Amino acid sequence: MDKIVALCKRRGFIFPGSEIYGGLGGTWDYGPLGVELKNNIKREWWKSMVQSRSDVVGVDASIMMNPQVWVASGHVEAFTDPLIECKICHQRFRKDQTTGLVGAAQRFLISDHEKNHKEKVEWTEPRKFNLLMETFLGVTEPKQKVYLRGEITQGAFVNFENVVNSTRVKIPFGIAQVGKAFRNEITPGNFTYRSREFEQMELEFFIKNDDKEGKKWFEYWKEQRVKWYESLGIKKENIRTRVHEDTERAHYAREAEDIEYKAPFGWSEFEGIHNRGDYDLSAHGLKYKTDAEEFTPWVIETSGGTDRSALFFLIDAYREDGDRVVLKLHPKLAPYKAAIFPLLANKPELVEKAKGVYDDLKKNYMVAWDERGNIGKRYFAQDEIGTPYCLTIDFQTLEDDTVTVRDRDTTKQERVKVKDLSALLAQKLA
Ligand code: GAP
Repeated sequence: MDKIVALCKRRGFIFPGSEIYGGLGGTWDYGPLGVELKNNIKREWWKSMVQSRSDVVGVDASIMMNPQVWVASGHVEAFTDPLIECKICHQRFRKDQTTGLVGAAQRFLISDHEKNHKEKVEWTEPRKFNLLMETFLGVTEPKQKVYLRGEITQGAFVNFENVVNSTRVKIPFGIAQVGKAFRNEITPGNFTYRSREFEQMELEFFIKNDDKEGKKWFEYWKEQRVKWYESLGIKKENIRTRVHEDTERAHYAREAEDIEYKAPFGWSEFEGIHNRGDYDLSAHGLKYKTDAEEFTPWVIETSGGTDRSALFFLIDAYREDGDRVVLKLHPKLAPYKAAIFPLLANKPELVEKAKGVYDDLKKNYMVAWDERGNIGKRYFAQDEIGTPYCLTIDFQTLEDDTVTVRDRDTTKQERVKVKDLSALLAQKLA
């Protein structure tokens, strides 16, 4: 973990939020490479969940919603974690009663804390702590209290009728969304894993209201989602699903399973598959109406975290080979698809030729430019950030218009015509 955190800071993936002012607990800023990685994850998710399907449409709802949404959804009442306080120093922790492994990580924090005191630590009784964040709107006092959305989900539900009426969707169909959510987590930690501001990628899939359909679509989406992570390179042995204990399920869930990753801090959830039944649409008084029928659909939800995915893709891709560090990110996720090097920075004819290749590829791909130091060092620098291909423009290029293409994973090199580079990248990224 320490190596990942250091790499993220050094190379510009992830920085502590508001760092020059001492930070702000549970917030993180994505740097030049981090934003590319995150955008790539979101783009691939959208491609797989919306673009390539005829039964899913997207929305992008507001972060601030009428507070009644959160009363109706049950979050004002039930979106809580159990909070306990150390009676000696008054530091507060989340007391997770579950047997889940996130729970185990929390218990580790608590037992760690007990070691900080010489005397025996006593804890207060657990009390419910609501995770919704508040902000205030308007120009006259008292300003209106609203919540920052604690899950992006409700934006899909409150627009259910709008989507049905403005599109041609018919049940079964889904509404997909990607966006920020906010939770006043009691104990943010494990780098970006538990943050107070984070991004979710969610599908709300509306189905007929019965158990058989529920089971069928739950299994279908669980399988799709696991396959998606594996298709982008997560190793099979590092991913699993885990059924929620009865005590663990969220207030809206009839059935819930987590997709977990074998993180350095233990198996940890990065996506939840939930059967929310008719909980939400009923709560908002919404129904599905056609000429033939009227009923309250059930919802199968897939709810993933972009930040947790980004973290786990990074961890899964990290390799050390002697003193060479390689991020074997899937090319679709890699921040840069290729890096372009003129062999020598002080030969204008090489630099000019390389600039031409760079400018051309830039039109369609994120590509890096590097002319510093020797080629070996430049390869190492690109390996460390996961760039799958390095293209070197040398003296032979000036004669036969070919460049050296070096592959990050095999370190093999081949010569390719400049005019074929774009097609080659397209093929490698397909
Ligand atoms: N709409 C359902 C829902 O929000 P959840 O299990 O509470 O379900 C879904 O959250 C996903 O959102 C999690 O699997 C995780 O990837 C991400 N997530 C939740 N809380 C988070 C936090 N504090 N920091 C980072 N990601 C978080």
